[in-house]
Amino acid sequence: MRWSSLAFLIAPSQAALRFGCSTLSIQRLDPVVEPGNLPSAHLHQIVGGNAFNATMSGDIGEKGTCTTCTFSEDFSNYWTAVMFFRHPNGTFKRVPIMQNAALPNGINGGMTIYYTQKDFFSNGNQKITSFPPGFRMTVGSPTTDTLDKARGNIGLRFVCLQDKNTRFPELPDFPTQPCRGGIMTVHHFPSCWDGKNLDSPDHQSHMYATTKEAFQEAGPCPASHPVRMPQLAYETLWDTTQFNSMWPSGAENPFVLGFGPNGDDNGYGTHADYAFGWKGDSLQRAMDSNCMFNACENGRPLKSQGVAEMNRCAAKQVVKEPLDGWLTSLPGQ
Ligand SMILES: *[C@@H]1O[C@H](CO)[C@@H](O)[C@H](O)[C@H]1NC(C)=O
Ligand SMILES: *[C@@H]1O[C@H](CO)[C@@H](O)[C@H](O)[C@H]1NC(C)=O
Repeated sequence: MRWSSLAFLIAPSQAALRFGCSTLSIQRLDPVVEPGNLPSAHLHQIVGGNAFNATMSGDIGEKGTCTTCTFSEDFSNYWTAVMFFRHPNGTFKRVPIMQNAALPNGINGGMTIYYTQKDFFSNGNQKITSFPPGFRMTVGSPTTDTLDKARGNIGLRFVCLQDKNTRFPELPDFPTQPCRGGIMTVHHFPSCWDGKNLDSPDHQSHMYATTKEAFQEAGPCPASHPVRMPQLAYETLWDTTQFNSMWPSGAENPFVLGFGPNGDDNGYGTHADYAFGWKGDSLQRAMDSNCMFNACENGRPLKSQGVAEMNRCAAKQVVKEPLDGWLTSLPGQ
């Protein structure tokens, strides 16, 4: 399915955002799960505003000076674990991130971020309420350790890319054969809020997921979590292709997510983090409009910026350690 071409077929009645953010930083920091830890336990790839650091509090929309995202009022941070190739000789190499299809050319790695409503085309006649300043959440967990549990994490999926437009099938774990076009990880967050808490001790229980596969219509929010918020989702495209020739025929999947002593080669522990940081009421204004994808740019209603400005924004590398080349162990292990 090509969402980019779908957009021209069906006019939206309500807003849907899909935009690129280039890589802000790759380092061991996690201000949501491990605030203050320099370094955090495992490596992350991060996009968004440059206020990102080991500790972040308050309204981060007011703290950064630049963002790697297309929408220049979006100082939120979005991050996931990092993928590595585990060579038969026991060393690891970081898998590079490539830009998605249907985004402006030249974006440095990064992610594609979605804020949709009930589905791509309608809010289902419900008010979609923006996340408030200081809001944060996670989805998935590095401790998920069985295929059944991974299957139950609807919306946390892997796609074996034939090319950058491949979207199906969505797998609950790593592909078992080399993928000609790379591997995409997909993270859909829950979108029903308890209406009270900006965060919770496990960073998840203030939210409730009604997510269905592949951006399909979300079910109704339960009474415990009655406030419908935007359906947030990330796509990350990992360029695994340079490693396929080093995958011995018949051997198990050599790609891992970079946590645990040898990395997670099942992918059950795929997870992602979010810290809201849109300036003022910009996200609410977008959700109340009827723009779709790049038609929301250039002040209609969101301010936007070009690829050169996105790529120029970076966060300070506060944790210094080797991340490139063949590593004898995963960062932090
Ligand atoms: C990041 O946080 C550390 C420790 O909390 C602090 O020393 C450093 O100045 C911060 N860096 C930036 C760029 O804010
Ligand atoms: C492992 O394999 C890579 C790729 O061939 C090679 O560059 C690296 O030196 C090897 N490392 C060891 C410890 O054998």
